Amino acid sequence: MRYNPTRATVLALETSCDESAVAVVSLEQGKMEVISSRIASQAEEHAQWGGVVPEIASRRHVEALPSLLGAALQDASISLEGVDAVAATVAPGLCGSLLVGSITARTISALHSLPFLGVHHLEGHLASVRLLKDPPIPPYLVLLVSGGHTELIRVAEYTKFIRLGRSHDDAAGEAFDKVARLLGLSYPGGPAIQKVAKNGDHKRFSFPKGRVSKPGGGFYPYDFSFSGLKTAVLREVQALSELEKPLPVEDLAASFEQVVAEVLVERSMRCALNEELADLVVVGGVAANKRLRGLMHSRGLEFSVGVHFAPIEFCTDNAAMVGAAALNRLELGGYNSSLQLGVSARWPLEQAEALYQPQEPF
Ligand code: KG4
Ligand code: ZN
Repeated sequence: MRYNPTRATVLALETSCDESAVAVVSLEQGKMEVISSRIASQAEEHAQWGGVVPEIASRRHVEALPSLLGAALQDASISLEGVDAVAATVAPGLCGSLLVGSITARTISALHSLPFLGVHHLEGHLASVRLLKDPPIPPYLVLLVSGGHTELIRVAEYTKFIRLGRSHDDAAGEAFDKVARLLGLSYPGGPAIQKVAKNGDHKRFSFPKGRVSKPGGGFYPYDFSFSGLKTAVLREVQALSELEKPLPVEDLAASFEQVVAEVLVERSMRCALNEELADLVVVGGVAANKRLRGLMHSRGLEFSVGVHFAPIEFCTDNAAMVGAAALNRLELGGYNSSLQLGVSARWPLEQAEALYQPQEPF
């Protein structure tokens, strides 16, 4: 293998959903640096359909990747000669979209004799915190909040994960997207809700916090449920619509955003304290939310838990985080994926290790 574990540069591709992204990320003596990062978002095109259309997404990735690759390498002032490995997200996500990035990366790998690393998308989100100037060192607790996942994960080492909590229905980002649609706001819902909620009264409506019952009684302390919250907003909207007055969108959005932030903060703080983890890391698209950031930081101070949000530009999908996850593996040494590795719509994070076995899992 051509890389030196203490010093490596990767070219990384991310195409699991509706962002086509390419980045060059380097590692030197334990410090990671994003040399270049390009993202072409398709969100505007999908917005007119109210969500991601898989067929359109794959086509746009095919169109976007060649120029993104050229631009990312040019921004970094390097050629493929200066790259030590190529990485691409291979699971989970939309299969057609994943295939575009994965085939592109494997082709570059074969043509330029570079190691290929097939990265788990959630491992990418987890690794995004290492792109901070002063990142926390494992073990720590991660709250991963994206459009597809809401999970509390103990990161024992950079590549060792234990899931402690999860959503039993909608993910937090999905709740933002669905509630935005109910309120007549655009896709993606998170930024749209944040924008109108800024001027709203977050105490005007009281929405439920969605607890998950245990079969024998009591509640799962670190689990989440957002579908009841979405239904509660729907009922409120229906009741208000009957009054034939303009919908108080700002207050509804602020009250919804507040309860989501509170529930995420309360359960993750409790988990960090009970697990005796001194640091709490927040990653994924919803980690871009300002109300969540504010509340989490103030509770962190109150409970003496170190709170670290991934850099805001690397919260929503991007390729720099995929590069960071690949570098975590390269730093350990001995990790590369088979060129026969395919893609998978679903794959558990706890089994991300299998993506680097010579006997590929899919
Ligand atoms: O991590 P991400 O880009 O893609 C997935 O892997 O799912 O997350 C996208 C999700 C969407 O549901 C979007 O509405 C949400 O993140 N999101 C936000 C914000 N920005 C993006 N949610 C709340 N506040 C934001 N500022
Ligand atoms: Zn994501």
